[in-house]
Amino acid sequence: MIIKQRKELSMAQEETGRRDFMGMALGAWAVVGGVGALYAAKRSWDPLPSVKAAGFTTIETKDKNENELVVEKWRGKPIFVLKKSADMEAHDRDVVINGDRFHISIGLCTHLGCIPAYQSDNKEFFCACHGGRFDASGTNKPGLPPPSPLEIPPFKIDGTKLVLGEAGPEYKKMLDAGLTV
Ligand code: FES
Repeated sequence: MIIKQRKELSMAQEETGRRDFMGMALGAWAVVGGVGALYAAKRSWDPLPSVKAAGFTTIETKDKNENELVVEKWRGKPIFVLKKSADMEAHDRDVVINGDRFHISIGLCTHLGCIPAYQSDNKEFFCACHGGRFDASGTNKPGLPPPSPLEIPPFKIDGTKLVLGEAGPEYKKMLDAGLTV
């Protein structure tokens, strides 16, 4: 009788142990599955590496000629890069790279978004859409449709290169001074 009771008790304990093990295994599986699902979800909302790389544009400035506008592209927008000559007025919006002064801006008119042309003779940007004008520092001429200067994109200076899309100390200084727009 006692032996039978012990046997039954032992079987009940074994069953409980098996159930505990199954419960733990299932719990662990659920945790692993949950982490996996979160990781997969995060990967789906993270930008692809190629998209991250596309957010930056690196421009070499040492080969640029004075008073010659170069139009680059950054995030689908035209970017004006104009190396200033010594006779062009210095401005707090100038980007100084390796001793040279540059005007850098998003090449979209601040009136209605047309792309102004650079007139090297009079050193001005002219927007043919409604007659807007900006000087070589991108400042809008008063009394004409554009309400504000050409916008300066976030940039970082890296040696003789300009990295667009990253806000370096020179850009932050301009931003704090309200000079970027
Ligand atoms: Fe340039 Fe209107 S869009 S002046």
